[in-house]
Amino acid sequence: MIPRVAILISGGGSNMVRLVEAMQAEGFATPVLVASNDAAASGLDRAAKLGVPTAAIDHRPFGRDRAAFEAELLKPILAAAPDVLCLAGFMRVLTPEFVGRFAGRMLNIHPSLLPKYPGLHTHQRALDAGDTEAGCTVHEVTPVLDDGPILGQARVAIEPGDSADTLAARVLVQEHRLYPAVLKRFASGERTPLLLG
Ligand code: GRF
Repeated sequence: MIPRVAILISGGGSNMVRLVEAMQAEGFATPVLVASNDAAASGLDRAAKLGVPTAAIDHRPFGRDRAAFEAELLKPILAAAPDVLCLAGFMRVLTPEFVGRFAGRMLNIHPSLLPKYPGLHTHQRALDAGDTEAGCTVHEVTPVLDDGPILGQARVAIEPGDSADTLAARVLVQEHRLYPAVLKRFASGERTPLLLG
């Protein structure tokens, strides 16, 4: 049985596009929904052009009531009946209750070599620390932010003169390699981390 995959985005969805294209090209899973917390997310148009059903639930009307926002977000997700939920540039923190509904079958890509630099501004923090390398991590999502079991990592050398933007651009290229490869392994039941150079 080929796993059904839903993807959550907040913006351009470049990682989502690579995931959908890989699933459509290789058939290891079926993209069943792309949902966003922002109706203006350009990734929604990209998903629609790829033939994937979309949904948008604006988080702003719910204010600080995360549970109320998530109750609405769950409606299209549960209707799509995904086996796996992928966060791809999704910028809302999810409650432990939401995460618990997808325990063991929810992935996220984070632009650092976790456990270094959970949270935001990862590239600037690596530069400020004088690190010689950066990268990205795909991990299982658990109630603790950016903390779940690591499923894959890709490393990128930090070059002299790098800015957060130039480093982010190089890491993003590796994200687009890593995430589809990890999802394909995850879909087959493989859980040992994939380490890309
Ligand atoms: C990427 O750097 C990703 O690591 C982070 O969000 C950024 C934008 O991702 N989670 P995308 O282009 O929307 O997939």
